[in-house]
Amino acid sequence: MGYPLLGKNFKDQFRLEKIIIAAVSKNGVIGNEGKIPWDCKAELQHFKKTTSGFPIIMGRKTWEAIATPLKNRVNIIISRSLKSSKKKNDYLIFSSLKKSLAYCESNNHKKCFIIGGTQIYKTALPLADVLIISEMKFEVEGDAKFPEFKKAEWKMLSSEELSEFTIHTYIRKENLQEC
Ligand SMILES: NC(=O)c1ccc[n+]([C@@H]2O[C@H](COP(=O)([O-])OP(=O)(O)OC[C@H]3O[C@@H](n4cnc5c(N)ncnc54)[C@H](OP(=O)(O)O)[C@@H]3O)[C@@H](O)[C@H]2O)c1
Repeated sequence: MGYPLLGKNFKDQFRLEKIIIAAVSKNGVIGNEGKIPWDCKAELQHFKKTTSGFPIIMGRKTWEAIATPLKNRVNIIISRSLKSSKKKNDYLIFSSLKKSLAYCESNNHKKCFIIGGTQIYKTALPLADVLIISEMKFEVEGDAKFPEFKKAEWKMLSSEELSEFTIHTYIRKENLQEC
């Protein structure tokens, strides 16, 4: 991905990059009754293209909504109620986000994507390096929202406008190299 200034020092360039990716309506909604309350092929294509080849980390409820592992990605589920498992080929279960990140690091992944829902986004926000937010161009009713985040801590690196949504990419300011 083309955001060049990640890492204050040489060592940081080799650590796991933690990227939150979400699609959010104009009024902050990300879900309703366990599902995403819109149907937008272009947004799904963007999600697939961006996350393919990397681990994706999700909460148990999001896992239940997608129902089957997403292809070409290590699917990681965070749950206290499901039994932890590292043995399954197509998905892994961890009892905490931190354990899942440690797994990604120990397997030398350069990036991982945190794909929701609300609870996992909340836990991941203080740890995330990058936010990729598809801002949908409409409002919708829903019971799951993207958590509030301090915009002052983030620098918007790019905005790509498509017909139904705009993709905003933010990077944590403290990760920007001082020029
Ligand atoms: N628009 C988007 O981009 C997008 C993306 C993803 C999801 N969504 C939507 O978001 C909604 C689901 O969000 P949600 O917040 O209800 O559920 P969620 O975050 O997907 O899953 C919540 C579950 O994850 C586990 N969990 C959460 N925090 C944990 C922690 N710190 N340690 C261990 N386990 C933890 C718990 O599982 P256990 O109960 O098993 O312990 C918890 O019940 C759905 O409507 C979905 O469609 C939208």
